[in-house]
Amino acid sequence: MIYRTQVGIVGAGPAGLVLGHLLHLEGIDSVVLEARDREYVEQRVRAGVLEQNTVNLLDEMGVGERMKREGLVHEGLELRFGGRGHRIDLAGLTGGRSITVYGQQEVVKDLIAARLEAGRELLFEVEDVELEGVDTEAPAVAFTHGGERRRLSCDVVAGCDGFHGVCRDAVPEGALTHHEREYPFGWLGVLAEAEPSSDELIYTHHDRGFALHSMRSPSITRLYLQCPPGEDVGEWPDDRIWEELNTRMELAEGFSLHEGPIIEKGVTPMRSFVAEPMQHGRLFLAGDAVHIVPPTGAKGLNLAVADVRVLSRALARWYDSGDESGLESYSETCLRRVWRTQYFSWWMTSMLHRLPDDRDGFQARLQRAQLDYVCSSESAARTLAENYVGFDSVEAPG
Ligand code: FAD
Ligand code: DHB
Repeated sequence: MIYRTQVGIVGAGPAGLVLGHLLHLEGIDSVVLEARDREYVEQRVRAGVLEQNTVNLLDEMGVGERMKREGLVHEGLELRFGGRGHRIDLAGLTGGRSITVYGQQEVVKDLIAARLEAGRELLFEVEDVELEGVDTEAPAVAFTHGGERRRLSCDVVAGCDGFHGVCRDAVPEGALTHHEREYPFGWLGVLAEAEPSSDELIYTHHDRGFALHSMRSPSITRLYLQCPPGEDVGEWPDDRIWEELNTRMELAEGFSLHEGPIIEKGVTPMRSFVAEPMQHGRLFLAGDAVHIVPPTGAKGLNLAVADVRVLSRALARWYDSGDESGLESYSETCLRRVWRTQYFSWWMTSMLHRLPDDRDGFQARLQRAQLDYVCSSESAARTLAENYVGFDSVEAPG
């Protein structure tokens, strides 16, 4: 049997699923291949902050109905340090732009439902994915599904399979340049059945380390604590987590978090990573498969969505008129946003975390000077705000 599609998409995370749906709306066929089962990808707790651009795109794609209903629109955030809280007026500083708090797994559920409704193919639990002929005009994806080995011929392959996927490694050695920084800390993330303790996100800088208060709904709080990289969650019984969060988030006038049962715990390592270019022959890499940002700027998911928006437009133009220019400039176009976002995520991370090798407190004093500046200068606050809510487009200077 000849098994073929126009675009073979490896990975059903936000990048792969958004790409599949955008292509569907253009009348372009794709097959999405996912290593995990449906329940796993729908329950995987990760990011929660959607930029205005991401919200607008999901809405325009017709998958924003539940997000509009259940998502929490935030027009500001709090920076907390030295026992005081400082509000950054995101909307006021950016001409009315905001962010929406809506869990990544909810976005993924909505996209899977839309894919199934559209009747386009999405296979879960595929194994041993191998890319073939990405240097040729007839690439293919070989994989095993339900015990059967299959070969999917495509015009183009989209590698949307995350940082630990196989697509990036299918590029011949030497064709990609890797840029990488690991941070000497990680994040312990927890989900608690507790009413959020503030209406807005709280990014906290404290001598004992960074802490973040976020949320998923009016009854679920999402919290993060800076911890050593590779920390064992077993070291963190619930009481210790609440005590540490309350210590780091203290306010001079007094503050205590609303507590409740912790229903999920996990440790995330922190790295900055970019492989470039983001294309090799007929293979286009998108999202975490080709870049990772530390989570402090809440950008990973948004960047993945921005990549595939560029890719879907380029593919639509190519199929429509044979014009290859969008595909040829895909990597360059995306990398401008990727590096702008890398900078912002690195800056937020460096400003807010306790730096373990800061023996004489030099770095801590620089951090405090920068935080004071961001909270007292409107221009500095606007720089944070416009990066946080996301740029419409990131153009090269003219
Ligand atoms: P992914 O969501 O990783 O999707 C890739 C998909 O490909 C997965 O479903 C995977 O199962 C599948 N796959 C992998 N290998 C194969 C294969 N060989 N064959 C087929 N399928 C394959 N960002 C934030 O902004 N804030 C956060 O708090 C935050 N927390 C995170 C916590 C963790 C543990 C991780 C890993 C990431 C976190 N991120 C966070 C980043 C954010 O979730 C990612 O940037 C986002 O998921 C990127 O989407 P993606 O579609 O590119 O990749
Ligand atoms: C969340 C995650 C982030 O990385 C961040 O910067 C803000 C919020 C969250 O999961 O809600």
